[in-house]
Amino acid sequence: MRYVGDVGGEAGRRHRRLTPTPAEWTSSRSSSPPPPGILPPVLSAIDHVGIAVEDLDASVSLYRDTLGISVVHRETVTEQGVEAALLDVGDSHLELLAPLGPDTAVGRFLQRRGPGIHHLAYRVASIDETLSALAASGMRLIDEHPRPGIRGSRVAFVHPSSTGGVLTEIVEPAH
Ligand code: CO
Repeated sequence: MRYVGDVGGEAGRRHRRLTPTPAEWTSSRSSSPPPPGILPPVLSAIDHVGIAVEDLDASVSLYRDTLGISVVHRETVTEQGVEAALLDVGDSHLELLAPLGPDTAVGRFLQRRGPGIHHLAYRVASIDETLSALAASGMRLIDEHPRPGIRGSRVAFVHPSSTGGVLTEIVEPAH
């Protein structure tokens, strides 16, 4: 009996030859370039959702006092032009971002679109390997090299034109 999505016959054999499993691709990736369009399983979890805010204290108060979400960290991240607060939601976080000035990425975002969801961040084991894999797959990177993120993490951004309009961050947490 066939399951839905099974590709049988000659087409199926051809499909299987051309499409390595992620495990096959991962095990061979040091010795050969990736096939187009195939990524290894590098994005292990949603690390956080970044939210642009006008007033960090007011937003912290909303999430902590009204919604009952604990604030676990607060930090000025000069490299990203923000003052940020991290809040725990299960294994993931909300990252509230207030701009340090109007001429910063989040400052410009607020002027253009107002407060709201700014980016989606995936946790990865190795940001260097993930950046190489994303670059090899043809994605447009904002950061060719990792930069400092909140709580000693290393982060990099992928351009939303490569990710369906979603500004995408990858995060390697501090070890
Ligand atoms: Co972030």
